[in-house]
Parts: sequence; C-alpha cells; structure tokens
Amino acid sequence: MAKKSYAVTVAGGGSTFTPGIALMLLEEHDRFPVDKICFYDNDPERQATVAKACEIYFHENAPEVEFSYTTDPEEAFTGIDFVLAHIRVGKYAMRRLDERIPLKYGVLGQETCGPGGIAYGMRSIGGVLEILDYMEKYSPDAWMLNYSNPAAIVAEATRRLRPNSKILNICDMPVDLMGKMADMCGLNTWRDLTVGYYGLNHFGWWDRIYDKDGNDLMPQIKEHMAANGYADALSETNQHVDESWVHTFQKARDVYALDPETIPNTYLKYYLFPDYVVAGSDPNYTRADEVIAGREKNVFGACKDIIAKGTSKDCGFEADAHATYIVDLACALAENTMERFLLIVPNEGCVENFDRTAMVEVPCIVGKNGYEKICQGSIPQFQKGMMEQQVSVEKLTVSAWIDHSYQELWQALTLSKTVPSASVAKQILDDLIEANKDYWPELH
Ligand code: NAD
Ligand code: G6P
Ligand code: MN
Repeated sequence: MAKKSYAVTVAGGGSTFTPGIALMLLEEHDRFPVDKICFYDNDPERQATVAKACEIYFHENAPEVEFSYTTDPEEAFTGIDFVLAHIRVGKYAMRRLDERIPLKYGVLGQETCGPGGIAYGMRSIGGVLEILDYMEKYSPDAWMLNYSNPAAIVAEATRRLRPNSKILNICDMPVDLMGKMADMCGLNTWRDLTVGYYGLNHFGWWDRIYDKDGNDLMPQIKEHMAANGYADALSETNQHVDESWVHTFQKARDVYALDPETIPNTYLKYYLFPDYVVAGSDPNYTRADEVIAGREKNVFGACKDIIAKGTSKDCGFEADAHATYIVDLACALAENTMERFLLIVPNEGCVENFDRTAMVEVPCIVGKNGYEKICQGSIPQFQKGMMEQQVSVEKLTVSAWIDHSYQELWQALTLSKTVPSASVAKQILDDLIEANKDYWPELH
C-alpha cells in the first residue's frame, strides 16, 4: 500500500536548483503528497540563504508542510522516505578550475566531460557516499534519487562500493532532449515518447522513438536533426536557454551527421569535436562564470530579496518544470507505477556486446521493488568503440579514488578522447592535484 504522504530530504540545500525543486514538490502535491521537507547541506551560510527564503515561501503558500533545514546528518536523514541529492563538492569555485586548467593545455574544460569531469568525479565520490551512508544509517528503507554530477563516475563508484544500496542515478539531459523531439513531432510532452536508448551518462544515442500508438517518429526527428540539430525545437521544460546551450543544440546537427541512424545526446560534441569546443572557449570566462553571473546571481538575489522583505509575494521564484521527472521517479518507487525512465544502471547484458560491469544509461521500468532494465540488444561498432574508451576512463577514475593511485588517474586522463597525449595528461593531472588538494585523496 502506498503511503498517504512522504518525507523528503533535499541534499545540497544550498543548490541553485533547490528553490525550483521545492516549489515543484508543492505543485505536484496531488500526485506526490509531501508533508515534510528538510534541506541538508554542509555549507550552513549558503544553505541558510536558500532555506530562509523557502521557509517564508512555505509559510505563505503551504503552511501544512513541515519544513526544516539543517547541517546535522541525524536530523536531516531520520524518518524520511526519499533523498533528492544534488550536491556539488567544491562548489563553483572548483568547477571554474575544472574548466580552466585543461584549457591552459589546449584541452577542453567541461563540468562532466574530459579532465574537468574526472576532477569533479574525484571530489564527488566521497560526498555522495557520505550522504548515502547517512540515509542508510538513519532511514534504511529510504531511496536516494541522485543527480549529483558527474553521474557516470558517481554511479560507477556506488556500483563498486555500495552495490546493495537503494540509490538510483538519473540525468535530466535526455528529458530535455526528448521534450524537444516531442516538439519536432507536434507532441506536447516527452512523456508521449517510448524510446530505445543506450550509452553511458552524457554519452548516449536513441535508436528507436515511437509515439503512444507505436508509430515511428524517427523519420521526422531525423529530418529536424539533419537541418537544425536540436535548435528551434522547444522543450516543455524551457531548460537550458543560455546562448552557450543554444550553440550546443545547433552543434548536435554535426554530431548527428556522423551517424544518421541514431539521435545523439548533446554531450557527444565534447568527444567528437573537441577542437571546435576549444576554439570557441574563453579560458578566462567559462561556463562556471556564466552560471555564477546568471543562475546563481538570480536565485540568490531572489532569496535575499524575499528575506529582506519578509514575504515571497512577486518574488520571481518558479517551480522547476523540468524536474517533474523526479516526482515521476519517486511516484514510480512509492506507488509501483511501472513507468519507463532512462536510468544509469549496471549493464549485466542489457547492451549485449558491451562490458557487463559497465554503468550504462538505458530504459528501465520502475516500480516498488526498484528497476528492471529493458534489453537493448547489440550496438554498432562506432558506439561500442567510443563507449569502451569512455567507460575505461570512468572505471580508472573510480579505481584511482579507491586505490589512491596516481598511475590509474594518469591512465584515465590519457585515455580520455579529449586529451591528445600522455604528456599533456600528466601536466593537467599535476595541476589538478594541486588545485584539488583539499578534496581528493592523496595519490601515490
Ligand atoms: P551549487 O553549487 O549551487 O549547489 C550545490 C550545493 O551542494 C552547495 O550548496 C554545496 O554547499 C553543497 N554541497 C557540496 N558538498 C556537499 C556535501 N558533501 N554534503 C552536503 N552538501 C554539499 O550547484 P548546482 O549548480 O545547483 O548543481 C548541483 C548539482 O546538481 C551539481 O552536481 C550539478 O552537476 C547537478 N545537476 C545534475 C543534473 C543532472 O542531469 N544529473 C542536472 C542539473 C544539475
Ligand atoms: C544538463 C546536464 C546536467 C548538467 C547541466 C549543466 O542538465 O544533464 O548534468 O549539470 O546540464 O548545466 P549548467 O547550466 O550548470 O551548465
Ligand atoms: Mn546530466
């Protein structure tokens, strides 16, 4: 029997996404009733700004919800049903370095891809495991829905180190892209699509796309991709609107041209066109700077405004429409809806001709007892070759974290398709070690 209402802890309470998620939970109250929301963060000041503003909002708009915020794990994780986790270990200051350091050596700087993603992974693993352990200690029946990045590396770490934990790793990029695909076909929502998809996180391809009646939508989508990539298609989520994202959506046309049989994830541009990405980058102003000047400024500005005025009326707070997939996922677990989601899960034969131990992103059916993978069969040589290289990068990164191994991390960087040689890999690695000394295990 499903419960009447749920207790949710948001880990990363100080995240720029927290107000949007909190408001979304209120909006979705009818299908996912939440009576208790707690924010948890390890940065009390950053969290307090977001939480005090949300407290005012909740008081004015949903006084029935018990709201609290804390930096104490026992308080945060006791008596809960779900943890929604979106932490960023090292915050934007470290994201900025992840993006800038590789660029010094002519290598692209990106949050989750290439050396930046590896560096972020080495910081994230410990933070995500810590939250998972708190959840299991204080609420052993709870589920953790994790979208802390880099999800591919974090997922591999939880597979290796916490194989029996109730954690689902999920990414929002496919949701946004499927919203755009729906729009290309004159449909209103990604929920109307049934897809075949395989890959790693931020590294995947759609090979079948149907509408609710089973009609093939690939021809229409291919036509749009060949002409415009994902540009000029609107997702109902209205996510990723900055200029740099618009370029990414356009560039998907060139990514698509390389294999016109499949529809690519936008992140493949970093692996297939790294020279183009580097040429378009400003080493003194990367995406982290854009986010600091944009999303962070807006969200924290609105929070401070609410706190100063003591009211959330006309405050510019908005529910995060795209995050409703998280409620879908929580509902599927709580109420056994058996809906389909793209999740990051152990392969175990789902992609037949690929490493059984890889964490792959594939469609799954989700219900009360977790997920069941939908077999994707054999994949083509091109995708298999790319995935084998990239999954090795991710596995070596996790091995380096576990073994405290300089050698394995150097191998991981060298193997990344974004890095031209072992000598460049070593230079970047040595800089990253220096920059991350407060966060990484000490390497030998
Ligand atoms: P942010 O820096 O604004 O927020 C992250 C928060 O996490 C900060 O308040 C920070 O203090 C906190 N934090 C860091 N380490 C912690 C720890 N060990 N324990 C508890 N709290 C900790 O970042 P953001 O831009 O809002 O993004 C948050 C996260 O969500 C990032 O990992 C980002 O990559 C991820 N994200 C993922 C997806 C996806 O598709 N999977 C989509 C959007 C964002
Ligand atoms: C997409 C990805 C996320 C990533 C985000 C970056 O949504 O799926 O994994 O964190 O983009 O967005 P940002 O605006 O922070 O560059
Ligand atoms: Mn993602």
